[in-house]
Amino acid sequence: MAPALGPVLLAAAGNDTVRRLVSAAPLTRPVVDRFVAGEGLDRSMAVVGALTASGMDVTLDHLGEDVTDPAEARSTRDAYLRLIDALRPLGLGPRAEMSVKLTAFGLALPGGEDLALANVTAVVEAAADAGTTVTVDMEDHTTVDATLAVVRELRTRFPQTGAVVQSYLFRTEEDCRALAGEGSRVRLVKGAYNEPASVAFQERHEVDKAYVRCLKILMAGEGYPMVGSHDPRMVAIGQDLARRAGRKSSEYEFQMLYGIRTAEQERLVAEGHRMRVYVPYGTDWYAYFMRRLAERPANLTFFLRSLATRG
Ligand code: FDA
Repeated sequence: MAPALGPVLLAAAGNDTVRRLVSAAPLTRPVVDRFVAGEGLDRSMAVVGALTASGMDVTLDHLGEDVTDPAEARSTRDAYLRLIDALRPLGLGPRAEMSVKLTAFGLALPGGEDLALANVTAVVEAAADAGTTVTVDMEDHTTVDATLAVVRELRTRFPQTGAVVQSYLFRTEEDCRALAGEGSRVRLVKGAYNEPASVAFQERHEVDKAYVRCLKILMAGEGYPMVGSHDPRMVAIGQDLARRAGRKSSEYEFQMLYGIRTAEQERLVAEGHRMRVYVPYGTDWYAYFMRRLAERPANLTFFLRSLATRG
């Protein structure tokens, strides 16, 4: 789905040498700041304060993925518990929820599904106790079955737990049907990983058409669709389908990433829509940052231009 450079950048997202080079470049930081709300909780809480004061809701992502041992997985859990403690005094309830990646909770380790479930359950319990929810991000296609299995298990006790589906995968229309039941919170995105032609559409227009088909299923269903896209056509179609399904503005929401199309985020809030901004924070920003560069040539140009002008 990415333009020509996209796959190269997505491959670089998993390459340690490139990671060291990009992370060490002194001028990377200001560009990262455009997409990441700081490394620590202080700065991210300030961002949460500013966004919620301007009418947005937020979902917070403590950056990190693909941990390599159980201790790291537990430290992901603990980072989210600290986040929930920091959010509690703000009294935002479900306006500030969490997004989690199960590979940061140990999903890819031996016995990973049980390990990730145990670690993430502690976070979902703490979130419920603080009056809010968790949405489980979707990662590359090899993790989809296990991720949906963990979501199903979490929903037996916490039915408000959100799922994410990616329209670039062939399987996703079927997953949308299975997930469109009453009360089911589902974020629909196009998908951000480098997926093979055996499992995913490769052409942008195919991914977009699949996005619309999935959105139709979710909007016509009984769940709570979360329209995760910066694409003006998907946003307009989302608005239209919600209207046709007779949904009130409290019965679906739009979601965009921190630092991307902020004017559009404000416009949707001003029109009375629910808009939730995905706010990533933390030190482990590299893979997230590379996926953002891969998505859009303008993001890459912005990065390269800032290197050229500052260097
Ligand atoms: P796409 O990148 O296809 O762009 C389409 C059009 O949108 C562009 O032509 C342009 O008009 C407009 N546009 C896009 N970016 C713009 C910009 N910076 N400035 C101006 N216009 C712009 N992925 C995943 O695999 N798993 C996940 O769990 C999540 N979670 C997630 C949460 C949220 C809240 C969002 C918004 C996205 C995700 N994603 C994700 C990422 C998602 O899969 C996808 O990679 C990006 O959202 C990019 O796709 P878009 O639909 O935004 O448009």
